[in-house]
Amino acid sequence: MSRLLKLSLTRRYRFAASHRLYSPAFSEQENQRLYGKCGNPYGHGHNYILEVTLSAPVDPQTGMVANLGELDPFVEREILEPFDQKYLNEQVDEFRASVPTAENLCREIYRRLEKFPAARLERVRIEETSNNSFEYAG
Ligand code: NI
Repeated sequence: MSRLLKLSLTRRYRFAASHRLYSPAFSEQENQRLYGKCGNPYGHGHNYILEVTLSAPVDPQTGMVANLGELDPFVEREILEPFDQKYLNEQVDEFRASVPTAENLCREIYRRLEKFPAARLERVRIEETSNNSFEYAG
């Protein structure tokens, strides 16, 4: 009987998107107070860095946690294709109902990537700027 070694793998992806931090639940004044210049009605962009961490027992035959040849097309289809070069507020359905802060972006990305069949999703991390990063582990 072989002992299965559990390991984690982190893969980094990049996408660019624009957003506006604004909630119709608040008054103009409250929006201004909460979101400041991030509420600019014309939006603003970020070069997001996304880190996806998966864990699984190392497959004794392949020696791998997950096959990047499976992970990359999955992330491409679930995240990069729908988010890259998009105005998140209007082009991603989930953000019609919630403000596309990096926190909500983390949660939405986690929800989409959790379906990856070949390994367990441990964590999603987003760098929005060189000073801000966000993590969600479900
Ligand atoms: Ni922003």
